[in-house]
Amino acid sequence: MQMRSPIVSVLGHVDHGKTSLLDKIRGTSVAAGEPGMITQHVGASFVPIEVIDKRCGELAKKYKFKLTIPGLLFIDTPGHEAFTNLRKRGGSIADLAVLVIDIIQGVQPQTIEAIQILKTYKTPFVVAANKIDLLNGWIPNPEACFQTTYSAQREFVQQELDNKVYEIVRRLGELGFNSERLDRVPDMSKQVLIIPVSAKTGEGFQDLLLLLAGLAQKFMGTVLDIDIEKPALGNVLEVKELTGIGATIDAIIYEGKIEPGDKIAVATHDGPMITKVRAIFQPAPMEEIRDPRKKFKSVDKVYAAAGVKIAAPGLERVIPGSPLIVVKDAEKAKREIEKEIEKVTIDKKSVGVIVKTDALGSLEAVTHLLGGMCPIRKANVGLITRKDLAEADSVRHQDRYCGVVFAFNVKIPNEITIEANNLGIKIFHSNVIYRLNEEYEKWKKEEQKKEKLEMLVKYIYPAKIVIIPGYVFRINKPAIVGVEVLGGILKPDTPLMDENGKHVGEVQSIQENNRSLDKAEKGAKVALAIKSATVGRDIFEQQVLFSAVPVEQIYKLQDKFEDKRLLEEIKKIMERR
Ligand code: GTP
Ligand code: MG
Repeated sequence: MQMRSPIVSVLGHVDHGKTSLLDKIRGTSVAAGEPGMITQHVGASFVPIEVIDKRCGELAKKYKFKLTIPGLLFIDTPGHEAFTNLRKRGGSIADLAVLVIDIIQGVQPQTIEAIQILKTYKTPFVVAANKIDLLNGWIPNPEACFQTTYSAQREFVQQELDNKVYEIVRRLGELGFNSERLDRVPDMSKQVLIIPVSAKTGEGFQDLLLLLAGLAQKFMGTVLDIDIEKPALGNVLEVKELTGIGATIDAIIYEGKIEPGDKIAVATHDGPMITKVRAIFQPAPMEEIRDPRKKFKSVDKVYAAAGVKIAAPGLERVIPGSPLIVVKDAEKAKREIEKEIEKVTIDKKSVGVIVKTDALGSLEAVTHLLGGMCPIRKANVGLITRKDLAEADSVRHQDRYCGVVFAFNVKIPNEITIEANNLGIKIFHSNVIYRLNEEYEKWKKEEQKKEKLEMLVKYIYPAKIVIIPGYVFRINKPAIVGVEVLGGILKPDTPLMDENGKHVGEVQSIQENNRSLDKAEKGAKVALAIKSATVGRDIFEQQVLFSAVPVEQIYKLQDKFEDKRLLEEIKKIMERR
């Protein structure tokens, strides 16, 4: 048994400083005087514990940590969708995450999305409250630990930092996380640590590295104990074409050992595949990569945790987010891969929406997010097909809010856009996960509003009335007159027209002996309040009025409404309008 390095991923809203933070971590290690010790991996960088110890040893004593892990492997995930591809059964291969929040801007939409994803995968995380150097009046103390630089700030600056941190605490609280500034947290298992840092000056980075190491040791000690000689388990981040080599996959190995000649099982668009590793690459050391042809060097063995590039036949059809298994038993490995694909994809015949994404990880994340909002009929990796549209179309006839397609991070071919337009099928397309459900909710609300309006219009009842002479109670605002219902049913909110089709106002209320009625039928004599009509200008004593029923509705009413003559009369007037 050996302890592997914890895998750490960095997430956060756009421009909050994820890349800068990783650069700084690498830079910090270099600045610590061990340029050779920090190793570049494919899609990751490894910071050995010696570097952290040298850099943060003093602080470690204060926190009473003894560093025992081999180091930290930081994954360069350029976005949340990339994070979702770090999947393995039961969660994420990222043992820990750093959620970067710009301290000035605070929690933003993608911060919330990142938190939701971390929650889904149950990944423990710390918050790096970045860009403290931008706080008004901040005096930088490059590379200093948080407490040192905080104490050196003037009171109003400290106050401002406290306020900003408090704001983050409040927002995280709303999202279900109890958090607090690092120096005020007595028990790391109960609260999320907020570590104020600057990726520009390196302030707070000692704390960040040390607390990540501490957190890993404290909470995942045994998880990190692995048999390094076991066949490797890993996960595919990306599929890339490499000149002179062909299709390769970038993968993170989180367990065991992999070497050229090993057989691996992966998920492809055509199902599970087994192939033989031709070569494994890792980035060449700094001094060698000036020649781009020598960017990667081939290696003969890799132990977890590591980021690697793998060349093997048939990799071009691999789905990002796929598990990678070094095969001992081919059938078993294939079944495992199949199970993984089955777990994430959905194919039912029920009424529900259709989901298409670019990778297994995003598929899982998107279906999880949408699942709380609407039923899902079908979810898989790939482009939208004509068959998808045909299915959405048939669903739409049963439930118009389910007859839609969600497309995440996939291109939509022109002919599909055209066909969807022709069929009237709505496609929600985005490469930001939360936008899919935001836009869907918005669309649904608008549609429901429209539907309601249509329903209101639907219920205009045919009616014919006459204004009884001598019964004008009020001229206008609203006009109140006595009427007799000559035919049909009169209801409040009904638009009224004269026999030439001219709109004269709407029924505001119907009263009989000072009691409001919700309808008045043929023969009734009632007092009628008519909105926006003036007696003597729009309406007159002895005048006959009709409810203005739209023609298309008259057709629908034809077999439901008894007084066919009245319908015919109204229809003739409406057609003349
Ligand atoms: P995306 O990858 O586009 O989502 O952005 P990111 O989160 O990787 O942010 P990035 O590291 O690219 O930083 C965005 C901008 O903020 C850049 O102009 C950085 O120079 C700046 N920046 C990042 N961290 C800090 C910091 O601590 N202080 C200051 N002053 N600027 C910073
Ligand atoms: Mg970036």
